[in-house]
Amino acid sequence: MKQFTSIVLFGAAVVALVSAAGTEGEISFEYHRYEELRKALVSVWLQCPTISRIYTIGESFEGRELLVLEMSDNPGTHEPGEPEFKYIANMHGNEAVGRELLIYLAQYMCNQYQQGNETIIDLVHTTRIHFMPSMNPDGFEKAASQPGDIKDWFVGRSNAQGVDLNRNFPDLDRIIYMNEREGGANNHLLQNRKKAVDENTKLAPETKAVIHWIMDIPFVLSANLHGGDVVANYPYDESRTGSTHEYSSSPDDVMFKSLARSYSMYNPVMSDPSRPPCRKNDDDSSFKDGITNGGAWYSVPGGMQDFNYLSSNCFEITLELSCDKFPTEDSLKTYWEQNRNSLVNYIEQVHRGVKGFVRDLQGNPIFNASVSVEGIAHDMTTAKDGDYWRLLAPGNYKVGASAPGYLTVIKKVAVSYSPATRVDFELESLMERKEEEREELMDWWKMMSQTLNF
Ligand SMILES: *[C@@H]1O[C@H](CO)[C@@H](O)[C@H](O)[C@H]1NC(C)=O
Ligand SMILES: *[C@@H]1O[C@H](CO)[C@@H](O)[C@H](O)[C@H]1NC(C)=O
Ligand SMILES: [Zn+2]
Repeated sequence: MKQFTSIVLFGAAVVALVSAAGTEGEISFEYHRYEELRKALVSVWLQCPTISRIYTIGESFEGRELLVLEMSDNPGTHEPGEPEFKYIANMHGNEAVGRELLIYLAQYMCNQYQQGNETIIDLVHTTRIHFMPSMNPDGFEKAASQPGDIKDWFVGRSNAQGVDLNRNFPDLDRIIYMNEREGGANNHLLQNRKKAVDENTKLAPETKAVIHWIMDIPFVLSANLHGGDVVANYPYDESRTGSTHEYSSSPDDVMFKSLARSYSMYNPVMSDPSRPPCRKNDDDSSFKDGITNGGAWYSVPGGMQDFNYLSSNCFEITLELSCDKFPTEDSLKTYWEQNRNSLVNYIEQVHRGVKGFVRDLQGNPIFNASVSVEGIAHDMTTAKDGDYWRLLAPGNYKVGASAPGYLTVIKKVAVSYSPATRVDFELESLMERKEEEREELMDWWKMMSQTLNF
């Protein structure tokens, strides 16, 4: 905490300098090393203090902070009913484009908000957005300190312990595939196992910090920004049979395709059907409209994308943004232009499907109630205020809400592309039901006794 205060004071000095030079709000299209990244986030925060906040979710192996910039109309609090969104970049430390794009995006949204851009104002007022430009700051420093413009393909990919963070998450795919065959939970597979996470010595500090983050905040939608190819990749990443290339659909395959397309279609390079593969021998046969199923491309066990979906209510896709993992600095502005509309449009997807509250008959929120959709074997749960979000593609659905000790309620719901359809549930407690039945029985008994005169 103490250290954090010092960033803030330091930032104030920086912004004073920056404004003196007349460049406040300008996006600087260059690479930001660790200290520069901190300064860039602080300067966004100082320029837009009423809609932003900086926090850290923990430290890397070498002690660098895993910084997050949050943007919303009430920074620091979850507002009942307001969905939460996150972008994570630079998990592979040498995949640098996403890291820069998130810094530029934060600056862009702050500027547009101040200039009165309705789209951005609306987004900030209705969404709690979290940006983590670097999940692997140690790896980035290693990659960035190589001399010259051409960077090695692997240097800085792993964290400082040599752990590939996108293979380091608990492999929940194996559990869900077993449950599909033998029965068992279809969501929240790490439920009640937080302690096991803390005690697992195989998990890198960066992985542990992100697991806690995923499980503590009711995220609805997310994307993980990578580089080395150009495609939007959706779950599952790990194949059912262990085969290297095998389409591995999740219960939300239709929605995931739609989400991936909502990114690729605004990126002229990603969606270009005649784009040649990044490298001559690359197998892009699974790519279509700039999207691919993870398993169909190549199977990845222990990835973060599937972990989000199987451990929490959060849907995550993986975005590959550039053929070069660490392109030259003068190309960064072009990458920003290619991705800007996609980045904004993808955040807006958080407002699709069905959302609302689950409460009891007295209006008290029911936390951890289940929200299920007929035909989709993947349930959501309600957050602390009884609020829930259920991303769905357009169509007609039967949505049910249930909780132990309550009668289940099922409603028919029509869903259009957006915005989300509001559906609230009031659940009657079984205790109340028993009480009612007992009273009815008593009334009947009284009436009978009177009639029969005994
Ligand atoms: C407002 O923001 C949206 C989303 O980034 C963008 O498409 C639009 O061009 C902006 N409007 C203006 C007037 O700049
Ligand atoms: C939520 O409900 C599930 C199943 O009903 C239960 O196992 C779990 O402990 C509950 N979680 C919390 C945080 O109450
Ligand atoms: Zn990567």
